[in-house]
Amino acid sequence: MRLGVLTGGGDCPGLNPALRAVVMRAMDFGDECVGIKLGWGGLINGDTVPLTIDVVDDIISRGGTILESSRTNPFKREQDLQATLDHIQELKLDVIIALGGEDTLGVAHKLFKLGVHTVGVPKTMDNDLNRTDYTFGFDSAVQVATDAADRLRDTARSHRRVMVLEVMGRHAGWVALETGVAGGADWILIPEEPLDLDEMCGHLGKLRERGKHHGLVVVSEGVEVTEADHTAAHTDDFGHVVLRERGVGEFVAKEIEERAGFETRLAVLGHIVRGGAPTAFDRMLATRLGIRAVDLAHEGKFGYMASLTNNQYVGVPLEQAVAELKTVPHELYQEIKTLFK
Ligand code: F6P
Repeated sequence: MRLGVLTGGGDCPGLNPALRAVVMRAMDFGDECVGIKLGWGGLINGDTVPLTIDVVDDIISRGGTILESSRTNPFKREQDLQATLDHIQELKLDVIIALGGEDTLGVAHKLFKLGVHTVGVPKTMDNDLNRTDYTFGFDSAVQVATDAADRLRDTARSHRRVMVLEVMGRHAGWVALETGVAGGADWILIPEEPLDLDEMCGHLGKLRERGKHHGLVVVSEGVEVTEADHTAAHTDDFGHVVLRERGVGEFVAKEIEERAGFETRLAVLGHIVRGGAPTAFDRMLATRLGIRAVDLAHEGKFGYMASLTNNQYVGVPLEQAVAELKTVPHELYQEIKTLFK
């Protein structure tokens, strides 16, 4: 088989270990791997590189993606879709293995419906993809963000301040929630829950009553803040607003200062959590998903995604994986609120 392999959407730690595993598993079947550059953009432009054992052998600990990535949507323009289909034929690709989140795998699913043999591999630091217990990139992102949270608690304590830590995560609060818990936050704000400034600031104000003069608040970039300006924000190829331009953390920090009476500072982590070496957990997850993806291709399970389901590596229909996002359940957030003391 000739396997076309691509990485689409925002990069994250784990992509390179997954590529490595795909190539190594493909060798067992005598397959040839073709690296497609810059996500779906590489299929529109016919931009490919050989993906051999020599190329991937030593990339297990490397962040980013050696294939480079983009948020290109081939379904946006008719001529792009045609070019994509033409290049798949010209390059004689039997299967496209797409490593990505909801957007990239959404394209894989649509192409499958057009008759293209696609298999998905779930990646995103947001961990918001359905039908898999975890996506790789998430654990690494939370590790970096937790380290930042620990550092911010130190300086908050020294200066009797509240530190606000804004983290990425688009529509899902998984990164904020796990960073907040692991980093000992006094409050966590996630997009799934309506923002209640009175409740949060009331709680922060009361910290002093038990002799605590500092605090840490972790806020997800996707929290809906009506006062924040949406109008100036750009959108990407898939229509998503560039969230960091909304300044959610800045708004929250200002409100805390005014309402809870703490001097407050903001740290925006942004893309820092998307770079660097993958954690061992993400290396393992990415590797096993990569292996499973090649196996799915050989089982003829096109239109499927490799998935970690109840600790088993299985195949699930792409259609189900991209149907809706996996967000933080209300009950889980309620449980975590027990830690805001
Ligand atoms: O989807 C992953 C993600 O990191 C989101 O958490 C964030 O909102 C977005 O990508 C940032 O996108 P970009 O890299 O295009 O700025």
